Amino acid sequence: MFSRRTHWELHPNALSVRRDALRDAGADLVDLTESNPAACGLSPDMDAVAAAIAAGARRPYSPDPRGLPHAREALAAYLGRRGTPVDPAHLVLTASTSEAYAWLIKLLCDPWDAVLVPQPCYPLFEWLARMEGVHLVPYALSRADGFRVHADSLPVDSRVRAVLAVSPGNPTGTFLKQDELEALEVRCAREGWALVMDEVFSDYGRGADDSRVRTVAGRAGPALNFALSGLSKVVGLAGLKLGWMAVGGPEALRDAALARLELIADTYLSVNTPVQEALGSLLAQADGFQAQVRARVEANLATLHAARTRDAGWNVLPVEGGWSAVLRIPRHPGELETALAALEEGVVVYPGHFFDFPPGADFLVLSLLPEEARFAEGVARLTRVL
Ligand SMILES: Cc1ncc(COP(=O)(O)O)c(C=O)c1O
Repeated sequence: MFSRRTHWELHPNALSVRRDALRDAGADLVDLTESNPAACGLSPDMDAVAAAIAAGARRPYSPDPRGLPHAREALAAYLGRRGTPVDPAHLVLTASTSEAYAWLIKLLCDPWDAVLVPQPCYPLFEWLARMEGVHLVPYALSRADGFRVHADSLPVDSRVRAVLAVSPGNPTGTFLKQDELEALEVRCAREGWALVMDEVFSDYGRGADDSRVRTVAGRAGPALNFALSGLSKVVGLAGLKLGWMAVGGPEALRDAALARLELIADTYLSVNTPVQEALGSLLAQADGFQAQVRARVEANLATLHAARTRDAGWNVLPVEGGWSAVLRIPRHPGELETALAALEEGVVVYPGHFFDFPPGADFLVLSLLPEEARFAEGVARLTRVL
């Protein structure tokens, strides 16, 4: 009856089974996997958000497949503040970054084609690719090498249509650097691949480093490129459902891509009118929201570093940006066993293999967003286990 693409493993994993059992039994668990800003007390001015959405709800329905022109102008102004001017005509609004991916796969791939994806990475693409009927071909990012992308060592596979880069990575927090981007563009242009840059965390860089790629939005470059982001990370408003892509690269390719994307977008018209009408006001909240997140990330990272005694068998990997920390932990008893032991101690963390760190690696991943006192309590419990 059902498609093979939906023939997936639906059993909960051992960690979530035990977590739910402990919760049901009334255990006080500190959840260091919580990465929803609102659940961590981080949000923009919700009165201003509500007023902007209410005003938008009164506007007539007059859709534009790429997104309402004044919404795209407001977005272009926001993106342009990062350095490169962005033409609103090169932007396409979507209901989320995840939807942008789905549209890009429809645009670039036929069934059974493939997309190159970094490993480790946020475990979203496996599902998206499967639902769109394409394969993922992983390319390894190694910790020893600072998670750098080596364009010339990307796998050779005739099915590949696009390369995905996530900058800064989730959960590695590592930004793509200018030299890596330039090499990637050369390789993409040579192979006829598109470059898809996931920039959802790019506003959350730590410290200054000019070699980092802040965005490819507005970039000409030798390869067709797409810069993806959305309100869920930029303003912490995942529930309002608005994401975007900026299309760049050689003019003829860029314009052909935009024309095809317009028809894909017209088929769904999935972005609601109120959020588009409100977009300028919502983006005006970005600075305030991002400042709250940055302060929280710094405070929690300081707590994490302070918890590490000199003889500790674990350490925190450098965080260039984003909302997560990766801990390297002792090899024994192993990631999953350590995460299960942490649960018994009352703290929830992810084992690294949830993010496709290679087998045999020893990492835990935690969110840096939880409220400071809860985070400190969670870290105290975790260090007892480690
Ligand atoms: C790297 C990365 N890309 C994309 C997404 C999805 O974003 P959206 O909520 O806009 O679909 C996430 C969500 O956490 C993410 O971590």
